[in-house]
Amino acid sequence: MIITGGERLSGDVHISGAKNAALPILVSSLLTEGWNTYHNVPDLVDIKTIKNLLGILGADIKDDGPLQINTSGMNRCEASYDLVKTMRASILVLGPLVARTGEARVSLPGGCAIGARPVNLHIKALQDLGAEVDLKDGYIEAKAKRLKGTTIYFDISTVTGTENIMMAACLAQGMSCLKNAAREPEVVNLAETLNHMGARIFGAGSDEIIVEGVERLHPAETTLIPDRIEAGTFMIAAGLTGGDVRILGCDPSHLDALISKLRDSGVEITVFDGGVHVRSGRTLTSVDIKTLPYPGFPTDLQAQMMACLTCGSGLSVITETVFENRFMHVGELMRMGADIHVQGNSAIVKGVKRLRGAQVMATDLRASASLILAGLVAEGRTELSRVYHIDRGYQEIEKKFSALGADIRRVPA
Ligand code: EPU
Repeated sequence: MIITGGERLSGDVHISGAKNAALPILVSSLLTEGWNTYHNVPDLVDIKTIKNLLGILGADIKDDGPLQINTSGMNRCEASYDLVKTMRASILVLGPLVARTGEARVSLPGGCAIGARPVNLHIKALQDLGAEVDLKDGYIEAKAKRLKGTTIYFDISTVTGTENIMMAACLAQGMSCLKNAAREPEVVNLAETLNHMGARIFGAGSDEIIVEGVERLHPAETTLIPDRIEAGTFMIAAGLTGGDVRILGCDPSHLDALISKLRDSGVEITVFDGGVHVRSGRTLTSVDIKTLPYPGFPTDLQAQMMACLTCGSGLSVITETVFENRFMHVGELMRMGADIHVQGNSAIVKGVKRLRGAQVMATDLRASASLILAGLVAEGRTELSRVYHIDRGYQEIEKKFSALGADIRRVPA
């Protein structure tokens, strides 16, 4: 991707459906027979991967209109290493497969560019629900005649862990109580979907979720929430470039932490129903950021906010508490002239007058977004390689930025 910096963004941008809501929600089709219908599904590589996995498990998929999935013909209960290593969220099939078929064989995901990211809490919770779990040849092998509802305590708030176990508990015998559950809006969207399918889930969005197990679920129709991370990325871009941008089709109530931080740094934000209007002068005041589970500041916006603060008016301290290795973008931002010093899980960012375009490399999805943002304000030309990371989670990002006046294009490698 080639970006020539210096353009002030202006205009309207429409936000797509949320990747991290779509993944568990499409997987929830495994819990029932018949055609489920999904609206507002984003067109992303990760969505193709999950559809591919569901196809391998025997699902029928129609996507000429709203996406439809029918898992009546399911004939396998395995997620291979080849799939799981390309997308960790494939682990989401573990709970539903055990609940529906009584068994599952799912590859352990292995390491990751942003941290160790173990799945021990998914496994422990499934064992709490009565599954027998063995780790063999790099695979999780789980079996249960019927899962039994119980109280589950998550040591750490885990998003996909909560989703996995919430899905499994829907078909368990009796009641489950998930304590220290993740409160992310994507968890709520999944719970609403499951309830449309006949599940009995209460308390999603709080840290205690009650699931009353039912005998069976039925197919349903659901609409995905807008992607709060995509929306946040455009908000930061507008703030950073001194822009005037309306971000439409998002849910501002999912973005309170970011709105507060951007306002603290001098960005003017007007919230309206279904969108936000972001206006800013070019120089932003430095602010400190600490990533936390929702409703705290999202780790998925940390890299983008760091790009923004590299041009702030003073010192910002950015502390990453969710993942232990999510500063891979720092070295790349420094190649563009940023002044950043990493100490443990904090990055001290000293605002510089300007960034300079350079050749940089994306290391993960959100790091790619941060480098695009840096490129938008850098002097001269930035060449971003390994952009396949960005296609996992942002739909047509260069088209959306171009429409706002950015000079950005994709060229063949
Ligand atoms: N953790 C464990 N054991 C587990 C599960 C998690 O130690 O069994 C730790 C993780 O290593 C991490 C922390 O708990 O330190 C929180 O991880 P979490 O499980 O919440 O992350 P996740 O479910 O794997 C989802 C998103 C990520 C997002 C995180 C945090 C999906 C598909 N992925 O991952 O999204 O960063 O929550 O909000 O929902 C992205 O979209 O770029 C992305 C990485």
